[in-house]
Amino acid sequence: MNKFYVTTPIYYVNDIPHVGHAYTTIAADILARYNRLKGREVFFLTGTDEHGQKVEKAAKEKGRTPQEHADLMVENFKTLWKKLNISNDAFIRTTDSEHKKIVQAMLQRLWDKGEIEKRAYSGWYCMPDERFWTESEVVNGNCPDCGRPVEHIEEENYFFLMSKYKDGLMKYIKDNPFYIMPETRKNEVLGFLKNNVLGDLCISRPKSRLSWGIPLPFDDNFVTYVWFDALLNYYSATKYLAKDSNKLRVTSNEKDLSLVTCHSSLNWWPATHHLIGKDILTTHCVYWSTMLMALELPLPKNIFAHGWWTVEGKKMSKSLGNVIDPNEMVEKYGADAFRYFLFREVPFGLDGDFSEEALIKRTNTDLANDLGNLLSRTLTMIEKYRGGKIPDAVDSKDREHLERRIKAWFDPSTTCISISYDDFMRQLQFHHALAQLWKIINETNEYIAAAVPWKETDEGILSNTLYTLAESLRLIAVYLYPFMPDTANKIWRQVGVDRPIDEFSLKEMGNWGGLKSGTKIQKTEQLFPRIELKKM
Ligand code: MSP
Repeated sequence: MNKFYVTTPIYYVNDIPHVGHAYTTIAADILARYNRLKGREVFFLTGTDEHGQKVEKAAKEKGRTPQEHADLMVENFKTLWKKLNISNDAFIRTTDSEHKKIVQAMLQRLWDKGEIEKRAYSGWYCMPDERFWTESEVVNGNCPDCGRPVEHIEEENYFFLMSKYKDGLMKYIKDNPFYIMPETRKNEVLGFLKNNVLGDLCISRPKSRLSWGIPLPFDDNFVTYVWFDALLNYYSATKYLAKDSNKLRVTSNEKDLSLVTCHSSLNWWPATHHLIGKDILTTHCVYWSTMLMALELPLPKNIFAHGWWTVEGKKMSKSLGNVIDPNEMVEKYGADAFRYFLFREVPFGLDGDFSEEALIKRTNTDLANDLGNLLSRTLTMIEKYRGGKIPDAVDSKDREHLERRIKAWFDPSTTCISISYDDFMRQLQFHHALAQLWKIINETNEYIAAAVPWKETDEGILSNTLYTLAESLRLIAVYLYPFMPDTANKIWRQVGVDRPIDEFSLKEMGNWGGLKSGTKIQKTEQLFPRIELKKM
């Protein structure tokens, strides 16, 4: 079975979504859409992380119960994903009863296997980060990660015996070069494992201190550490949210966990890609990987950590008032321009700086000039010279050379271009895939300049040139679709294809010659009107 399973981190509901959340989710959407085009069975999962101290605290500040708070806040994410055209197949909430049941089953399994132990514990706790630090790690009474004050806590807790998996994990990472990407992040994880003593992981919180969590099935006085609960979402969703999964029966008896191990007709685990931000590298590459090893479940095929967006060189923060709201960006510039900018501007994996000025520049040059003009010039000429109908493609010697090149760009059997687009997509090098596509767009523009259709006196040659242009645009739209689905469909409609792109596979529509002569074009709105910089 040709399956493709992609996930985003599940987002905390203590806050509203910002550009960082949008970034990972759009990346997953690009992969999901592209793999659907390739004819794969895709499962694209996103969702929200709703337990833990952060959410409990945020709810308290608003005078709500944590559940009420989560129910309200989750809508901000769901609404934004609609605005951004996110095609997720499922949305998991860690407060779903099925998820909670699976987390408990997994805890029980680890407890029964002797992978969890109860110990007295004292350490320095960072509330915002929800994690303990040792004496030597604390910097002047502050968290070494976020710089905020830590508090000293002494209590009994349950520990997942993570340390014993250190060597196995290092070997696994070395043996599977694509497990952690990009390469720099893989080296970072290996360096961390090599240079530190890997401790055991505290996976419980006493209910007296934190009640907003999933109770441990073997000790009701404790709830599960938020990360243990959250990471398991990637697995639990495959059991009750994935297509064709045998829906887990939720019984009133929470201990009846027999169905948890059931196999759906399509077994979605392991994931193909976990997309994450670089800040949650350790939790995924170390905690999650060792948890899976202890559970004797396969590890995901790949964990890809992207960089962070700064704003004018500064970290985004509420106190600086520089947090980029994706809703505002969509309202001002449209979902597709925003999506394009994020993935064209910065290589996926590196940090990048966000500015509206850069977004406007990209929109004006790449989208309005290069792409938008190519479409409007082509359609105008078809209207003027061929009464608005796609002409016949008549072979002509004069144009043969240019046409062959254009055809070759798109014909996978003859070109290296579409192969490398696919290679870039498989390596998550989105900016290269887009650069490749823009090379084609620009060469098609050059083709107009070289063919000078408005001076052409040979009707056959003119028809041929116009067909070549319209057909190039049809194919450009196909490859644009994962990044800019609305724009791609608009292009299709305008060159006269009356069905949406996602109704076809790449195999059906990816070859030269799909556009039928005689089809009426639908020249309507400009794709991207130019934006005046002063509008900002
Ligand atoms: N709930 C956890 C994830 C659990 S996954 C099992 C969490 N949530 S989060 O809402 O705080 O952050 C989610 C993602 O947003 C992380 O991948 C993080 O890297 C990303 N970003 C937060 N700020 C960011 C930027 N400024 N730029 C890019 N992404 C950033 O962590």
